[in-house]
Amino acid sequence: MRVLNSIADLREVARRRVPRSIFEYVDHGSYDELTFNRNLSDLKALRFRQRVLVDVTSQSLRKDILGVTSSMPLAIAPTGLTGLVHRDGEILAAQAAEAFGVPFCLSTVSVCSIEDVREATTAPFWFQLYVMKDRGYTASLMDRAEAAGCPVLLLTVDIPVSGLRRRDAKNGLAVPPRLTLRNALDIATKPSWAFGVMMGKRKTFGNLAAAVPHTGVATLSQWISTQFDASVTWKDFEEIRRRWKGKLVIKGILDAEDAKRAVLLGADGVVVSNHGGRQLDGAPSSIAALPRVVEAVAGRSEVFFDGGIRSGQDILKAVALGANAALTGRAFLYGLGAAGRAGVTSALEIMAREMQVSLALTGCNDVRDVTPEILSRD
Ligand SMILES: Cc1cc2nc3c(=O)[nH]c(=O)nc-3n(C[C@H](O)[C@H](O)[C@H](O)COP(=O)(O)O)c2cc1C
Repeated sequence: MRVLNSIADLREVARRRVPRSIFEYVDHGSYDELTFNRNLSDLKALRFRQRVLVDVTSQSLRKDILGVTSSMPLAIAPTGLTGLVHRDGEILAAQAAEAFGVPFCLSTVSVCSIEDVREATTAPFWFQLYVMKDRGYTASLMDRAEAAGCPVLLLTVDIPVSGLRRRDAKNGLAVPPRLTLRNALDIATKPSWAFGVMMGKRKTFGNLAAAVPHTGVATLSQWISTQFDASVTWKDFEEIRRRWKGKLVIKGILDAEDAKRAVLLGADGVVVSNHGGRQLDGAPSSIAALPRVVEAVAGRSEVFFDGGIRSGQDILKAVALGANAALTGRAFLYGLGAAGRAGVTSALEIMAREMQVSLALTGCNDVRDVTPEILSRD
């Protein structure tokens, strides 16, 4: 039997099970992928201080995230079209997150709808909002999230226009997925995916299909440019803050000035993120931006981090640099593509184990006590 003991192993299995156009939609970044690659390499370049002869028998990864105790400092990031990676992908990932005791965030552009996920879970989940041109529809999404009991709204602000993801354009990624002459052979070699997704009832935008026109779209980026509102400003943020009664987190902050403004206008949390290197190519890596944002926020709101998390060590590095918790995008998607709900659980287990061992080897017992001191300057 194949031993799967890293996120890279899960990625490899997912690569074989998921059609190329969908795997590459997950696996790649925008333009020349400079920022995407830097997210990974800058995290890797950080080093730990190895400390010895400390009793590390009572380890704890538990941490409070926006007032709720989580089993580790990690949440599942919102990812669009997760239900195309695996049938009912959002439901399966939310269930895996619930069982593991970490937050799950549903994307506006999910395949399973807010109500689908609500029905299939008992733990409250977060909802991620994109501001659409149809502001009435945007408001109705917030109402639906509130009605589903979502305690946290994550407002994503780094995609007023869509960065070009070259692979998607080349692969002609369409929603719902289509069987074409070009991809027929590929899909024929992915029978479990084809049986699950192509035969399943959900394969388009679950939250949007009923009300937004043009959902049978040629390519994803075309669709984004017709539906997302490029005129969104801080005024809209203020309006959303007034309207949303729960916790409001702003996602897609890399700049200290933007972080300060978000906190001033009432953000409960800030996610340091460059959309996993899928938007502004040439922007700094998230981990390079994290310390500046932490300093600017100065404890007035929670700071979260995403971009390049592929191991428990990566999560620990982000926490050491001041993140309250990290979010994971691709790592959980690889697990989902590899083995559905069990694969997401594997991804979470792998990262938790890695984090626990690394915590011990830096001489710490409790992740809440982690400071930059666990990192080496050498
Ligand atoms: C396939 C995919 C789809 C994504 N869709 C969304 C989305 O709908 N909304 C959002 O705010 N961010 C989205 N993101 C960005 C993630 O929330 C997160 O910022 C990013 O994946 C973190 O980087 P990582 O994949 O290296 O962990 C998406 C990322 C991926 C990989």
